[in-house]
Amino acid sequence: MSDPKSARILIDSKRVISEISPLLFSGFAEHLGRCIYGGIYDPTSPQANDKGLREDVLAALRELNFRSMRYPGGNFVSGYRWEDGIGPKDQRPARRELAWQSIESNHFGADEFIRFCREIDSEPMLAVNLGTGTIQDAANLVEYCNAPAGTQYANMRVSNGCEAPYGVKYWCLGNEMDGPWQIGHLDAIDYGKKAREAAKLMRLHDDSVELVLCGSSSSLMPTYPEWDRIGLELCWDLVQYHSMHYYANNIEDDTPSFLALSAEFEDYVDTVAAVLRYVKAKTRSKHDVYLSWDEWNVWYKARETADRRGGWTEAPHLIEEVYNLEDALVVAQWLNVFLRRADVLKIACIAQIVNVIAPILTTRDNVLKQTTFYPLLMFSQMASGNSLDLLVDAPRYETKQFGDMPLLDVSASYDEAAGEHAIFVVNRSLTERIPIEICWGDVAPKRISSAQQLSGNDPKAYNSWEDPNHVTTQAIYAPRIIDGAAQMSLPPLSFTALGVEL
Ligand code: AHR
Repeated sequence: MSDPKSARILIDSKRVISEISPLLFSGFAEHLGRCIYGGIYDPTSPQANDKGLREDVLAALRELNFRSMRYPGGNFVSGYRWEDGIGPKDQRPARRELAWQSIESNHFGADEFIRFCREIDSEPMLAVNLGTGTIQDAANLVEYCNAPAGTQYANMRVSNGCEAPYGVKYWCLGNEMDGPWQIGHLDAIDYGKKAREAAKLMRLHDDSVELVLCGSSSSLMPTYPEWDRIGLELCWDLVQYHSMHYYANNIEDDTPSFLALSAEFEDYVDTVAAVLRYVKAKTRSKHDVYLSWDEWNVWYKARETADRRGGWTEAPHLIEEVYNLEDALVVAQWLNVFLRRADVLKIACIAQIVNVIAPILTTRDNVLKQTTFYPLLMFSQMASGNSLDLLVDAPRYETKQFGDMPLLDVSASYDEAAGEHAIFVVNRSLTERIPIEICWGDVAPKRISSAQQLSGNDPKAYNSWEDPNHVTTQAIYAPRIIDGAAQMSLPPLSFTALGVEL
C-alpha cells in the first residue's frame, strides 16, 4: 500500500466463501421482561390488533425481515411447561416463573407464537425444555405442532383452532445446559445423552425436523470447548446444527478494543468449527453439522437488572439495554463475521427482538428504533447470494486486547442471479477519516446504486424517546466506478453499506 493512511479493497466475484444462508438474519424472542408481554403482545395497547399483537412492533419487525424466530427461551424454556400456554386463555394457569422470577400469565403460547411468525413471515424455531422437561414432553410438543389430526396432541392443536399441522422445522434441544444458572443444568455427558434421546423421539414423530444441539453458552465457560466435543460425539448423526452464544461488552470502556471484537467472534467460530471437523472425523461420519449462533448481541449496561430479576411481577422492565453508536458498529462487524464465515454458520439469531437487549424499544403506544436497528436492517435487506473472500489492505491501529488490528472490517455479498452485490465496511477509527479504493479484479459492475452510512463523532451517542433519530443511517454520495475502481472516504466511527448493480 503506497499511502499508509489509505485502504484498498480488492473484490473478485470468483472468490466465493459460501452461499449466504438467509437464516443468518434471524431473531430470538423469550418470555423475559417485556419482550413478549408489552412488546410483541399487548391487548391493552392502542396499537394492538384483534390478536393482541402490536401493529407498530410488527411493522418494525417486518422491516428487519427476520427469516426465523427462536422461542420461547432462553433460560425461561428450562422450566417451561408448554401445555400451560395452549387452550382457552381463562383456563391457562398463571405461574411463578423461576428463571427470571416473574409472573407468567401464559396468555401467549405456542399457537400465538405461530400466528405471530406468520404475521412477520418468519420460520418458527422452537426450543424444547431439557431442564425440568422430559423427552416425552419434547416429543409431545412435536406431535402437537407437526402431526396430522387423529391423535391426542395433534387433536389438541385442532381444537385450539388449527387443523393443518404447523410444520415447525427448526428445534433447539434445550438452552445453555452447560450453565450452572440453568434450571436443570447437566454436565456434558448427561446433557448429550438426554439430548440424544429427545432427538430420537422428536425424529420418530417427524423425520424432517432440523435440530440444534446446545453448545457452550459462551467461549468464556470453563467447560468450553470440551462441552461441545462431548455433546457432538454423543449426538452427531441426529442433529443438523450446534449452537453458539455470546454477549459482547465494553465494561472497561476501552472503545478501541471493543471495536476490534470481531477478532474474538471469528476466533470463537474457528474453534467450534474445528471441533465439528474433529468430531466428524472421529465418528467416521459423512453427515455434516453447521453452526447456529442463536444468541448474540452487545449486553453489559443493563446486566444488573438481570441479576435483580422480576420481583414476581408480570412483564417487568428487565435488561432494557440502550444501544449507542459503538454498539451498532460492533453489531455491524458481527454481521460481517456471519458473511465471512458463511461456510459454517447457517443460523444466527439476535438476542432479542423487542425491549430485552433489542433493536426496538416500546412504550404502551410507541416504538423506538435503537442504533443497532440500522446495521441489522442494511444486512437483512442487502446481503444475499454468495459471500466473497476479499483482499483488504487497511491502515492498522493498536488495541489493548487484540494488539495490532486493521482499521477496517469488511464483508461482501454477490448475488449474480439477482444482479446485486453489496459491500459492508466499518471504520473502527475514533478519529481518522480513511480514503478507500474499491477495485474489482474480474468484471467491473455497472454502478454503485446506493450508499448508506451510520456514523457520528460520539461513540456513546444513542436514540431516545426525546430524540429518536439522533443516530440513523444517512444516504451518502455513491461513488462512480471508473476503470474498474471506485474511490471514497469513510469517516471515523462509521458503518457504510454499498449496494452495487451488476
Ligand atoms: O437472552 C438473555 C439470556 O441470556 C437468555 O435467557 C439465556 O439463554 C442467556 O444467558
